[in-house]
Amino acid sequence: MGRVHLEAVQRVESVEAAAIFGRNDDATARLAAAFSVPQATSDYRKLLHDQTIDAVDICTPNAQHFSMAKEALQAGKHVLCEKPLTTTVAEAEELVALAARSKLRNGVCHNLRYYPQVQQMRALREAGELGEILVVQGTYSQDWLLYDTDWNWRVDAKAAGASRAMADIGSHFFDMAEHVTGLRVSSLCADLQTFHKTRKQPKGSVETFANKMMSPEDYVETPVDTEDFGAVVFRMGDRTRGAMTASQVSAGRKNGLSIEIYGSKASVAWNQERPDELWVGHRDTGNSIFVKDPSLLTGKARGYADLPGGHSEGYDDTFKQVFRRFYASISATDSIEYPQFADGLRQMVILDSVLASSAARKWVEVPSPKK
Ligand SMILES: NC(=O)c1ccc[n+]([C@@H]2O[C@H](COP(=O)([O-])OP(=O)(O)OC[C@H]3O[C@@H](n4cnc5c(N)ncnc54)[C@H](O)[C@@H]3O)[C@@H](O)[C@H]2O)c1
Repeated sequence: MGRVHLEAVQRVESVEAAAIFGRNDDATARLAAAFSVPQATSDYRKLLHDQTIDAVDICTPNAQHFSMAKEALQAGKHVLCEKPLTTTVAEAEELVALAARSKLRNGVCHNLRYYPQVQQMRALREAGELGEILVVQGTYSQDWLLYDTDWNWRVDAKAAGASRAMADIGSHFFDMAEHVTGLRVSSLCADLQTFHKTRKQPKGSVETFANKMMSPEDYVETPVDTEDFGAVVFRMGDRTRGAMTASQVSAGRKNGLSIEIYGSKASVAWNQERPDELWVGHRDTGNSIFVKDPSLLTGKARGYADLPGGHSEGYDDTFKQVFRRFYASISATDSIEYPQFADGLRQMVILDSVLASSAARKWVEVPSPKK
């Protein structure tokens, strides 16, 4: 994500990357040189004391987020943090409170909301075109942790938190489901599964998606305590029902995030791997595939498409949309239109409920966000 974030920063008008912090001096210096960033350091506090730096962008493994974000806020920096915001609800609550007290901008990268067609689904729902939302369903499926020889820090609860598939990718689904429908998950019943009770951990460190070339003599057999797969049945209030899965062991699925929303008047379905296409379903007339074109998008959704129809807008562009709004908000006083720490906390609350439900094998209530 470091590279993805740097590229996004360089595409945004109102920000300049002043320094890069990393734990490996050589790698950090190489990255800084490649992106013409003037400073590279392995001393995080040095950056926090630098008065010329306004904001900190955190894209380290999950367990680092809390302390890095907390220290940055305490040093008076605005903070944009990767998801999941923290590894516990208590930590996320502390960050939300600290950000509110210090009146600093705080963003969390639930960036997948900002595909133009996801905004289109939201705009259609807001315009009443879908009617009452009856059913929300979908999946986020990947295959990169299918084999027991696949390893990443996400496998280790100490680095990633107690949940893996649900925290890493399921959180994107729930953020999107709540953002698009405007409804809140109110109760759920979850079933988590760890297919590989042990995995072959490489003796050296590996970065995400970079482990495919390792050979077997380099591994240590390591117990695994995070889930490969999760299935969740959920309610959004009294009437709306939903079901989703998150999987990192689904052969052939790369970033298969799909969401289907069935309303009393019409339905919409969208798949991240074909981001410019939105399926719109009707009972009494023909279904259609609406291809992204800024001039045809509804209302506010237009503001999330920068390219003409026929030119794809993909994953990288979702970061651009978040970063543009986050960094502009540092000097602007108008409304904030990006996911904030409160949204990160919301996902931690849902995750906590998922873990509790699966452990107890029963339905649990999901606390509502505080007003
Ligand atoms: N929003 C999204 O779509 C999205 C996608 C992928 C990852 N993420 C999130 O981004 C974060 C990073 O994931 P990734 O896939 O880039 O991981 P990664 O393993 O590819 O990269 C992590 C980087 O952090 C560095 N690092 C680790 N510990 C450190 C420490 N203590 N201090 C400084 N640097 C440290 C590593 O050297 C590495 O360069 C995670 O929180 C993940 O959930 C978000």
